[in-house]
Amino acid sequence: MVRINENYLRLAPSYLFSEIARRAREYQAERPDARLLRLGIGNTTEPLAPTIVQGLHAGVDRLARRETYSGYGDEQGDSDLRERIAEVKYRARRLEIDASEVFISDGAKSDTANIQSLFDPYAAVAFQDPAYPVYVDTNVIAGRERFVYLACTEANGFIAPPPTDHVDLIYLCSPNNPTGAVARRETLRSYVEYALAHEAIILFDAAYECFIRDPALPRSIYEIPDARRCAIELCTFSKEAGFTGVRLGWTVVPRNLDIDRGNPRSVHELWNRRQTTFFNGASNIAQRGGIASLTPEGLAENARTIDIYMENARAIRDGLSSIGLTVFGGENAPYVWVRCPPGLDSWAFFDKLLREAHVITTPGSGFGAHGEGYLRLSAFGHPENIAAAVASIREKVRL
Ligand code: MLT
Repeated sequence: MVRINENYLRLAPSYLFSEIARRAREYQAERPDARLLRLGIGNTTEPLAPTIVQGLHAGVDRLARRETYSGYGDEQGDSDLRERIAEVKYRARRLEIDASEVFISDGAKSDTANIQSLFDPYAAVAFQDPAYPVYVDTNVIAGRERFVYLACTEANGFIAPPPTDHVDLIYLCSPNNPTGAVARRETLRSYVEYALAHEAIILFDAAYECFIRDPALPRSIYEIPDARRCAIELCTFSKEAGFTGVRLGWTVVPRNLDIDRGNPRSVHELWNRRQTTFFNGASNIAQRGGIASLTPEGLAENARTIDIYMENARAIRDGLSSIGLTVFGGENAPYVWVRCPPGLDSWAFFDKLLREAHVITTPGSGFGAHGEGYLRLSAFGHPENIAAAVASIREKVRL
């Protein structure tokens, strides 16, 4: 009899956002008249920018003509798109990344889940706690057991310092999901120094870099000298260009990571090997949309959408603070992290907001033990829905 991969049994029975959706559906069935306001999953809501729509249409038109039709694309993704990413996201910021180091994905989530497969099954792994659940879950599925949780607390501004013990892999997310905290340059430098000293690799999740407004805050790990020697960066069009449904992202794997020295094949080569076996590339239409989104017009239009989400974040912060709740994040990130009132844990406060205000949030405990006692609110809704949710919490919730 074939046996299942029992590592799956070590996971929570359902993925965090599936569990939230289940609870929301149950409540809706109980109260069909209730209009639920969704500040849970970080799902974009504003329409695609006009320049992107044109790019997508042009992508479809290319497929309609024999002269321009394309099937499978270039191995690491559309060369024009990789060049545009290297130029706009890195070289324009004076960061030394070549298009050949960029791999196109169908969104950061898949690569974030898969990248760990390049490394030793016995590797020790550090995670920020709380963290995006994909990091821990995929390492559990891979059978790893040596985990170090870096406590992100109010005392350290929700950005933990590097581990004190040895680890081999370190997941870092900044701006952070879920806390909305952003790592300062000195903190990232301390991680790079740690990684170089320990011959460790940093897996840097930059999915929310486009929300950074403070020019002093780093938007890429490669802003730190020598990060090319020890860091892989994962990013996405989901949040900046509204591609949560279109699906497109990228991963930067520098050609010479320090751990490559003794190995017959570089991590870059192995990732290419992995991707060519498991993945046939992102949709060619989506990739044309991605190119359009990185034109000056596309970038300017996306920035206006991001302004809308950041204004939402401000409204959430102000509204919740005005009723005495303590809030964090939401200034250079689309997530607001709220401390639960005394006596309520994350799920209890989640239920209270659902039942009393009809607002769906995300319980902090779903992101790790140190998320207990907090809730995450997403600013990705339409402004009128965010305003309605904040008003409902202010008027109906008794703290
Ligand atoms: C979230 O809500 O944490 C994100 O939307 C999840 C994701 O991007 O996969």
